[in-house]
Amino acid sequence: MGISGKDKAEYVQKTFNNIAKKYDLMNTLMSFGLDKKWRKKAVETAETRPGMKMIDICCGTAQLSLELAMAVGKEGKVQGLDFSENMLAKARENLANSSFRSIIELQQGDAMNLPYPDNFFDGATVGWGLRNLPDLEKGIREMIRVVKPGSMVVSLDMGKPTMPVFKQAYWLYFDKLVPLMGKIWTGKANAYQYLHDSSREFPPQWELARIFGECGLVEIKYQNLAGGVVAIVSGRKPR
Ligand SMILES: C[S@@+](CC[C@H](N)C(=O)[O-])C[C@H]1O[C@@H](n2cnc3c(N)ncnc32)[C@H](O)[C@@H]1O
Repeated sequence: MGISGKDKAEYVQKTFNNIAKKYDLMNTLMSFGLDKKWRKKAVETAETRPGMKMIDICCGTAQLSLELAMAVGKEGKVQGLDFSENMLAKARENLANSSFRSIIELQQGDAMNLPYPDNFFDGATVGWGLRNLPDLEKGIREMIRVVKPGSMVVSLDMGKPTMPVFKQAYWLYFDKLVPLMGKIWTGKANAYQYLHDSSREFPPQWELARIFGECGLVEIKYQNLAGGVVAIVSGRKPR
């Protein structure tokens, strides 16, 4: 892809504005409907409990925010943040008929400079978001800054499978079919090529776990889902 900094942020924002309407459908198709289960697992890993105040960075169409809302319940709060107005518009549409809509507040903002005070939330999640940021470490440090000591910081994103044969079959599917499906079903070939390339370039789960540690988190873990095609990387802000 070869773009960085402000150029990358602008490109990413434009890309998600372009695919917002079909994003949820494509996600479900490409993950064979497993994305919901993966999000639930991320919410569990974030140790989300009733009454908590959680933040979901790069919330997009609010699918992960919704899973968080189910876990925090009526006494809790979920703050969703994203910089794409069209993804947020789709999120509002998704929430319109949901009984959880009063729990979720959506805000347009930049993950690189979160508009919240230090030590404010009881936990932070990010789903398929970190790889889009122009500075990965800065994004992780921002998540750490806004959560209270002892809280969990959790990323759910594409991983790198390691099992022989499965690994080769997966890369064949991912390298050839994913961009093609994006092109056919949404007509946005460039956008799906970007999603493909950004996943390829994103650090593998064990490397992201190491970066979490470097950024100051403790009790770092990674969990492979679907044979490592997707992974949850988590850590705790020291108490
Ligand atoms: C692949 S989508 C993930 C959406 C959602 N988390 C999910 O689980 O489906 C990535 C989202 O990150 C958002 N994003 C990327 N860079 C961002 C940034 N710097 N600040 C805020 N949002 C950002 C995009 O607008 C997009 O909605």
